Amino acid sequence: MTTEDGLIESTTPVSEGQPATGNGLSTLGHDGDPRWRVDASQAVSYEVRLCRGLLDPASDLMVTAASAGDGPGPRRRLVVLDSQVDVLFGERIRAYLEAHRVTYEFCVVEADERRKTMTSVFRVVSAMDAFGVARRREPVIAVGGGVLTDIVGLAASLYRRSTPYVRVPTTLIGMVDAGIGSKTGVNFSDHKNRLGTYHPSATTLIDPGFLVTLPVRHLRNGLAEVLKMALIKDRRLFELLAVHGARIIAERMQSAGSADGGAAALAVIRLAIGGMLQELQPNLWEHQLERVVDYGHSFSPVIEMRALPELLHGEAVAVDMALSLVLAHHRGLLSAEDLSRARLVMGELGLPTWHPVCSTELLTEALADTVRHRDGRQLIPLTAGIGQARFVDDVTPAELAAALAGLEPNWTSMAAAPSAPTPGSNG
Ligand SMILES: NC(=O)c1ccc[n+]([C@@H]2O[C@H](COP(=O)([O-])OP(=O)(O)OC[C@H]3O[C@@H](n4cnc5c(N)ncnc54)[C@H](O)[C@@H]3O)[C@@H](O)[C@H]2O)c1
Repeated sequence: MTTEDGLIESTTPVSEGQPATGNGLSTLGHDGDPRWRVDASQAVSYEVRLCRGLLDPASDLMVTAASAGDGPGPRRRLVVLDSQVDVLFGERIRAYLEAHRVTYEFCVVEADERRKTMTSVFRVVSAMDAFGVARRREPVIAVGGGVLTDIVGLAASLYRRSTPYVRVPTTLIGMVDAGIGSKTGVNFSDHKNRLGTYHPSATTLIDPGFLVTLPVRHLRNGLAEVLKMALIKDRRLFELLAVHGARIIAERMQSAGSADGGAAALAVIRLAIGGMLQELQPNLWEHQLERVVDYGHSFSPVIEMRALPELLHGEAVAVDMALSLVLAHHRGLLSAEDLSRARLVMGELGLPTWHPVCSTELLTEALADTVRHRDGRQLIPLTAGIGQARFVDDVTPAELAAALAGLEPNWTSMAAAPSAPTPGSNG
């Protein structure tokens, strides 16, 4: 029988999965009660682009990205900016938009981990509403670090149930991780990224020129996520970090003034992005919970939230990685030589391998939360020789205590890292 809305309805007992009816719906039912199954899939396609000179008025990348075509009248864009990025680059971004005759508004957000909350998301949503963002053709442009792009991504996924946005990451973590996947999110009730959605930006534009002003501590922080990819997937990337890590930090990953014209820094960024996207693409919605990119993220969410504001995201990941390296070594997955090389590289990159909040109790609690996150399994990725990963599912509190004992309490507060130069050479 065809109902008013045109769906085919059936009360006739049919077997599960009976071929679709005329309108493509399958009818199901064994007991005379009508049931329908809706099967649909959503194609996902987005672009991650490495570019130079993004803020150069000669480039139209930022204003043309992700638009489904501009309507009548001037091009309009809402730009959501991290407040620090506004101080450093706001003037150039305004000049860029004006050169392209874009009608724009800025929404400046204090985006730090403690303000990564729904309150910030609502602030962005209010700005979208006030601007009157058109549903498909006026992508919001998010310019900032991982905190800012996670907040804007969530706002864009909620506003009218989904609107397009463009990410312009300005931190290394944003460029190699937060800005290139599909996840959005904010913290909730002391839980890291507990609320979020899967809503990739239509386009991510990565200009390493933004890193010129990034404090060294935040560069190191980003390199922790790069080292993650190296340890579980890419030995070549590991070797690049081992040889060039300290230098590219000192050169702030820029080509100008670099001993090799920026080649190593660019190779590091390219390999990290490529490796990450290779892992993400087949599992964008994380239906598969065995994810090698969760390396360093089994214990770190709780470590990071407990140590706030002392530890940055990548630093908490580094502490988790250090622990995971020892776990792998104790299990015979990682040789003493690889363990010591990995530790050496962590030292070269200036990453912490311990923090005072780490105790067996905290790690056990963190693991319990991860088990809930991974549907009742531990699924802890460990390095099985540099560049390879193996999952383990049966780590005990005693093993955690032994691994913790194998870490050196090297923690010194990193907050007083050298400050960055003023902008100028970006683009
Ligand atoms: N969505 C994902 O898949 C994903 C993946 C990894 C990390 N994350 C999230 O990313 C966040 C960490 O990102 P982050 O490290 O970029 O932190 P962040 O956004 O807090 O940025 C770090 C600091 O750098 C400043 N800053 C940004 N760009 C700058 C620039 N060019 N010059 C000088 N200062 C600049 C910011 O104001 C901030 O103080 C965490 O909340 C983490 O959960 C998300």
